[in-house]
Amino acid sequence: MDIQKLPKILNKLPPNWVERMEKVFYKIPAIKAQMETEYDNIMKEAEPSLKPYRGDFPSYSHLPPAGLDRADILRQLVALKDREEARWKEGYVSGAVYNGDPDFIDFLDQVYAIHSQANPLHTDVWPSATKFEAEIVAMTAEMLGASETDGPICGTVSSGGTESILLAMKTYRDRARELRGIRHPEMIVPVTAHTAFDKSAQYFGIKIIHIPVGSDYRADVAATSHAINHNTIVLAGSAPSFPHGAIDPIEELSTLARQHDIGFHTDACLGGFVLPWARKLGYPVPPFDFRLPGVTSMSADTHKYGYAAKGTSVVLYRGLELRRFQYFTASDWPGGLYFSPTLAGSRPGSLSAVCWASMVAMGESGYLDATRRILETAATIKQGIQTIPQLHLLGDPLWVLAFTSDTINIFQVMDYMQLKKWSLNPLQKPSAIHLALTLRHTQPGVAEKFIQDLQEAVAYVQANPLEKGGSAPVYGMAATLPLRGVIREMLRRFADVLYKV
Ligand SMILES: Cc1ncc(COP(=O)(O)O)c(C=O)c1O
Repeated sequence: MDIQKLPKILNKLPPNWVERMEKVFYKIPAIKAQMETEYDNIMKEAEPSLKPYRGDFPSYSHLPPAGLDRADILRQLVALKDREEARWKEGYVSGAVYNGDPDFIDFLDQVYAIHSQANPLHTDVWPSATKFEAEIVAMTAEMLGASETDGPICGTVSSGGTESILLAMKTYRDRARELRGIRHPEMIVPVTAHTAFDKSAQYFGIKIIHIPVGSDYRADVAATSHAINHNTIVLAGSAPSFPHGAIDPIEELSTLARQHDIGFHTDACLGGFVLPWARKLGYPVPPFDFRLPGVTSMSADTHKYGYAAKGTSVVLYRGLELRRFQYFTASDWPGGLYFSPTLAGSRPGSLSAVCWASMVAMGESGYLDATRRILETAATIKQGIQTIPQLHLLGDPLWVLAFTSDTINIFQVMDYMQLKKWSLNPLQKPSAIHLALTLRHTQPGVAEKFIQDLQEAVAYVQANPLEKGGSAPVYGMAATLPLRGVIREMLRRFADVLYKV
């Protein structure tokens, strides 16, 4: 079977037919066997690049009989770090490491070491951890408009943007069940909302309705309004969205939610620590936070533009009552009276200490300056992209810059950029790539190098449009293949490979 020819045939069929056909097809032993062979072949090809250290470093599929020499272990760790560090440090990576300044990292590492044993679950042993978390929440809430609202804005610290979104959606589900008796809850989110919303729908049994975005990549308010029904528990929008850096019409969407007496979640995982400062700097930032009365919850990631180490985010609520639906409590467990505010039980208090330290070390002036540098660099890169006739930006983003081409294969451009060390994010529907700017990109010469390499990449792809190999065929197929079950299975196989020794 030539898998590459499938999209053309299947795209002519209605999607629900394709999905049903897919399920039936894979029950046929011959097809199943052929698919297995295809998956194996694709994974065999991918495996060497996913496991680059085989042969160069010792690997352990069982415990060493005796503990290894600590100095040797440290040498291995440093050698691994050395192989990986240059790329992100020099600013070749989209997103990922948002500060990365060596002195700042050293400072955060010291904080981690000081509090490495802390666990906020044990509130009696480490009240310092709860102090850090309460202050992280308060400072984030204040930045996002708390003092301009009537009631309290409260929240919790979570392990990342995904957990913040999971928690908020669980909170709305439980509130709707308790207060309104809703047994078949639904949420409405733009197609561009982070997939953490889909994850929460899967995990918590909430039906998710995706609404389209317009040509500006912002959520369609009329379509949202149309989708609301008596089971709707929450609407959401992004400020900005991961794929295109577009800020949804949060004011209109949250007003709609308020009119229907349902929740509205602003996902400011990316923008929570940028947009307040961008607004102060005079950039056009539409309202997106608790200053809007219809916004009932928000997520803002301290481990992105809050510049903390990976592993923290903040989820915020309008009012203490709403937050209580997030908590887990157990009154009859033989292990004692138990409660935990978030998904995990035990948690790394060290990361909360690091997050707190990052915030107080940055201060308002630090965030303002960081935002200024990022947005100025983004403007330079945006201008550079606009000078390349084969490319165009999607929407009108501030610092998450998605671009594509109508004339050349954008994934081939990404492959060429990869050869030049750049790690960009591939997007689909439409096919595009993006660069999420961080402080790493504000280093002298990085923006210029990006544009120079991009010009070279475009010229190369234009001259060699039929060149085979690289990831372009895989991304091209993944973007257009209607057999979404095949793609999802491929992702599962991919995860399997990651866990191979
Ligand atoms: C807008 C948005 N929301 C949520 C998330 C999820 O964050 P995390 O990867 O920390 O779970 C991201 C991640 O990039 C994001 O960009």
